[in-house]
Amino acid sequence: MIRVLFVCLGNICRSPMAEAVFAHLVAQAGLSEHFQIDSCGTSDYHQGDQAHSGTLKVLAQHGIDYHGRSRPLTPQDLAQFDYVLAMDQSNLTHIQRLAGGDQAKIILFLNEAYQLKTVDRLEVPDPYYTGGFERVYQLVYRGSEALLTRIRQDHQI
Ligand code: 4NP
Repeated sequence: MIRVLFVCLGNICRSPMAEAVFAHLVAQAGLSEHFQIDSCGTSDYHQGDQAHSGTLKVLAQHGIDYHGRSRPLTPQDLAQFDYVLAMDQSNLTHIQRLAGGDQAKIILFLNEAYQLKTVDRLEVPDPYYTGGFERVYQLVYRGSEALLTRIRQDHQI
């Protein structure tokens, strides 16, 4: 089982979107049985809440369902998951502080797409403050495609 965790601040806008889009691409590739996919926040500000209406709306517009609820990151997550994807540099720094040994699996979510030059930035901007959920979706989609390519190479699947 390949365990993949997406992390943002509130776990209501960006990381649920990434979780849903990545799971959608994994399902399209017929690989769902190989993966455990989840998301969480570095804060507990929205613990138990549904994803933001802007995230749910843009996902629905692209034919993707999502029913997850916000939860905070725990130290056990960092022991359990194989890939931990931070949406921005502030999330990355927070996760790295909480993590013990293996830091290599903690990366910026857009890193792979940035290397492939399918995106021109390393951070997913936070639509909670600025809106622009469709623009964020496009970044998240490209990030998810590139991440899945990298993981398939890593695991020869
Ligand atoms: P997210 O966006 O980290 O993409 O889920 C945010 C959601 C809520 C807050 C900040 C960012 N907040 O401060 O409540």
